[in-house]
Amino acid sequence: MKIGILGVGHIGKTLVRKLSTVGHDVKVANSRGPETIEADVLASGARAVTTPQAVEDVDVVILSIPLNRLPAIAPLITKLPAETVVMDTSNFYPQRDGTIDAIEAGQVESLWLAEQLGRPIAKAWNSIGSDSFAKKGTPVGSPGRIALPVAADRDRDRKAGMTLVEDTGFDAFDAGTLAESWRQQPGAPCYCTDLTREELPAALAAAERARLPKRRDLSFAAVMERVGDGGKNPDAEFGVRLNRALFM
Ligand SMILES: NC(=O)c1ccc[n+]([C@@H]2O[C@H](COP(=O)([O-])OP(=O)(O)OC[C@H]3O[C@@H](n4cnc5c(N)ncnc54)[C@H](OP(=O)(O)O)[C@@H]3O)[C@@H](O)[C@H]2O)c1
Repeated sequence: MKIGILGVGHIGKTLVRKLSTVGHDVKVANSRGPETIEADVLASGARAVTTPQAVEDVDVVILSIPLNRLPAIAPLITKLPAETVVMDTSNFYPQRDGTIDAIEAGQVESLWLAEQLGRPIAKAWNSIGSDSFAKKGTPVGSPGRIALPVAADRDRDRKAGMTLVEDTGFDAFDAGTLAESWRQQPGAPCYCTDLTREELPAALAAAERARLPKRRDLSFAAVMERVGDGGKNPDAEFGVRLNRALFM
């Protein structure tokens, strides 16, 4: 597939590496310009481009930027052809994103984003920590392979989304519509807990919506205490141990 990725941070750089390694035609952009993208991210053939170039003439656009920065790129995304698949990795953290009234009042994060972008999206890769994402992908059929939920309202988005999740080394699990995607938001049992295909359905079913924000904030506070900086991510061992204790 021809894929444009916006964001080359903790999650975006691993997406670029994995998807170009398996043979997809990948372009990537950040907010500061192509010359600021590290060469090693491009080692498997991905090209660094500007943000408008990244979304031009592609089958799939993947958004991997902080939620509060996404409305700024809405004009670029809104004008894409209807058949383009737009995937999003984002999560809402008020400590990073500030106040978003609709989400704090209970709107599902991906529905809020679809509204901002004026088009449907697929939500994927939001529920795995960056260290697990970089290190724990395995070939199809490997024992204990981690499974990731994919939520979407259109079949074409779900299908492309699930294919690409598999291509990054994880079992793709159809988690239903965007309206149900709160079950994979921060604080939910499947969020950054590295579950298998066998464990994931029960974890999605066990999510308790009203408890998610409090559990998300407890986890955020514990991570800050551990790594001491909002720009750093915890390692997989600590992140998974913490989130299993708090969310499951
Ligand atoms: N970190 C995790 O473990 C994790 C796990 C799952 C999901 N997520 C979610 O995935 C998203 C990305 O997280 P992250 O940790 O990878 O973030 P990050 O490390 O802070 O990287 C953010 C990236 O977005 C780029 N960006 C910001 N505004 C942009 C714009 N207008 N146009 C193009 N690029 C732009 C930044 O580019 P510049 O540096 O040039 O500004 C940077 O490359 C977030 O919503 C996060 O909640 C994160």
